[in-house]
Amino acid sequence: MIILGVETSCDETSIAVLKTDGDGFTVLANVVSSQVKTHAPFGGVVPMLAAREHTRNIGPVFDMAVREAGLQDPRNEIDLIAVTRGPGLGPALLVGLTFARTLAMQWDKPIIGINHMEGHIYSNWLPPSQFSVSNFSFPVLNLLVSGGHTELILMTDHGEYERLGETQDDAVGEAFDKAARLLGLAYPGGPALSGLASSGRADAYALPRPMSKSGDLNFSYSGLKTAVLYLIRDLTRDGKTLDGQQKADIAASFQEAAVDVLIQKTRTAALEHKPGAILLSGGVSANSLLRERLAALGKELNIPVSVPGIAWTGDNAAMIAAAGYSRYAEEKTTGPRSWESVVMNANLRLGDTGAAS
Ligand code: KG4
Ligand code: ZN
Repeated sequence: MIILGVETSCDETSIAVLKTDGDGFTVLANVVSSQVKTHAPFGGVVPMLAAREHTRNIGPVFDMAVREAGLQDPRNEIDLIAVTRGPGLGPALLVGLTFARTLAMQWDKPIIGINHMEGHIYSNWLPPSQFSVSNFSFPVLNLLVSGGHTELILMTDHGEYERLGETQDDAVGEAFDKAARLLGLAYPGGPALSGLASSGRADAYALPRPMSKSGDLNFSYSGLKTAVLYLIRDLTRDGKTLDGQQKADIAASFQEAAVDVLIQKTRTAALEHKPGAILLSGGVSANSLLRERLAALGKELNIPVSVPGIAWTGDNAAMIAAAGYSRYAEEKTTGPRSWESVVMNANLRLGDTGAAS
């Protein structure tokens, strides 16, 4: 079976072609066109600009994906279309949805709308990790960390989600980006901050671990960002400027605090729900300290941990296609979905009843 994935929820236009024999995926193509340069001067993603760029790029990205996958006759070779329908930026989502719905209508193919966060979870099913629940058992605990989300989600079966906790304000990726900006790094600064942290001392500055003692599984990251703001303000009093070592120390101290809370809450959730496995996903899952600490937690609790291949940590259509196949395989008996049934929901939330797809 060949699945076409389409993703335009934020600032990457992505189209992927996946092949499956029902037991693992082969990624035939995954083309990602990033708009980072377009949005960088604004310090964040501008929805209408994103939509304009998606509109411009989606045709060429599709052509490239089909060529890369070696499809001679995509209309006859593609069996299923999976497209992100939310959450994300409305104008951006609409471009991918319109493209995918048009193909489904013209080609008379089944189409499935996918929750972007569910897509991130399924990045763990892609090679090289090839996570397979047949080797473990549900429930599976998901730590979802991106620029817009910080969530602990218990997956009780394919397509069945229970939200255990989430951020009450900023997402952890957003906090990385804001702290990076305070250190003078360009948007999105998460990866650069993490690079800077590798030459810093994580215990140089005492930064808060917001909500670590809250007794629930929720997060808060805006206070940590503000603590970085005040720290920099104190260090640069009387016209002083930060030197390279100070910057690296701030980055390392921030990263330590941010990761610490993620691990603490994941430990609490794992002890409470005794999952068959812990899965990490979302843009921040590229962070090497987080990957290391989660692996150590898995060892400590004797629970297998899966992290996505680095290529699948950021937004991509391969993960959307993988999630689409899972939904299709689970719900095959109800018949293929028609293009009219797939609609945008910019505020889709994983774990809300009936809202996952
Ligand atoms: O999942 P994603 O690509 O887009 C959203 O759906 O939000 O996540 C992007 C986020 C950004 O905030 C980016 O700074 C962060 O992931 N990020 C990182 C790293 N790589 C990407 N944060 C910390 N360390 C990294 N290595
Ligand atoms: Zn994402």
